[in-house]
Amino acid sequence: MQRIVSGMRPTGKLHLGHYLGVIDNWVKLQDNFDCYFFVADWHALTTKYDKTENLKQDILDVTMDWLACGVDPNKATIYVQSQIPEIAELHLYLSMITPQNWVERDPTLKDMAKILKSKEGMASQINYGLMGYPVLMTADILMFNANFVPVGIDQVAHVELTRDIARRFNNLYNCNFFNEPQPKLNNCSLICGLDGNKMGKSFNNDIKISDTDEVTSKKIMSAITDRSRLRKDDPGHPNECEVAFKYWNIFGDEKDIEKIKFECENGLRGCADCKRQLGLKINNHMAEIREKRKYYENNQEIVKQILNDGATKARNEAKSILKEIRSIIKMY
Ligand code: TRP
Ligand code: SF4
Repeated sequence: MQRIVSGMRPTGKLHLGHYLGVIDNWVKLQDNFDCYFFVADWHALTTKYDKTENLKQDILDVTMDWLACGVDPNKATIYVQSQIPEIAELHLYLSMITPQNWVERDPTLKDMAKILKSKEGMASQINYGLMGYPVLMTADILMFNANFVPVGIDQVAHVELTRDIARRFNNLYNCNFFNEPQPKLNNCSLICGLDGNKMGKSFNNDIKISDTDEVTSKKIMSAITDRSRLRKDDPGHPNECEVAFKYWNIFGDEKDIEKIKFECENGLRGCADCKRQLGLKINNHMAEIREKRKYYENNQEIVKQILNDGATKARNEAKSILKEIRSIIKMY
């Protein structure tokens, strides 16, 4: 079976953008590929090395969201990156063969550096570890000799670098050990935020997977609609309804959408009512997932057990691959 590796940094509770754009994709992939899904806690340290107080809980929160959305530990291997020390050793070997200018031209890293530089204080320096970000990501992927890597568009350059490093390793050590893994695009812009911009935790425009029905409904009431519409019997323009109608297109069925379009265009439907119904629709869609999320929240020892089992499994595979790598490099 072909293999997939993908990871997410432990950013805490995930939102609907993660669910629809990434996790739902993983859930489909786990039936047809040998999937390795992990929480990238070392990657979190590249910029947040001084903010670790919530790290453990953030890791559990991300994992609980995955499990609630249907990532299945009986199908996929789920683990925490730092539980697999073999990745750190592979990172070291790969760092030896990666030319410095390959990491320096990495566009995502350049962006991160720019953002850091614009901030005041301690975190504004770029540490050695951050420079290694794309090489560490390469180690994550090559550790399990992946064939495909599901990522967002912003991460594609990293996977390109992974391919370059894999090729260089094979050339330098005269072998054909590593696959050149290919990116598989996630659709991260599937759902926008409540304000019409990209949905993101730091933009305060997201709906969390784990939000309650009440919170969700309240947030939906703040979603942008057709801005030109002043009264509820004005004819509306669903296609210019920047957020609410877009959400209907995601969560509604064909009949809902047709009805709303007709009523909106003919001034028969007020935006407040429309959004009240939309809130119910989304809560209905999320009900099972949220129930599962609650179950894991109340049984976090089960979540930890799943991560430990996943780490054991991943580590066995990593150990055997690392053994071959050491022998190819001719380490002692
Ligand atoms: N850098 C990725 C992100 O920020 C997370 C990540 C780390 C990753 N290692 C990976 C993704 C390996 C895919 C494969 O989203
Ligand atoms: Fe959007 Fe619904 Fe208002 Fe029409 S009635 S503008 S679809 S929120």
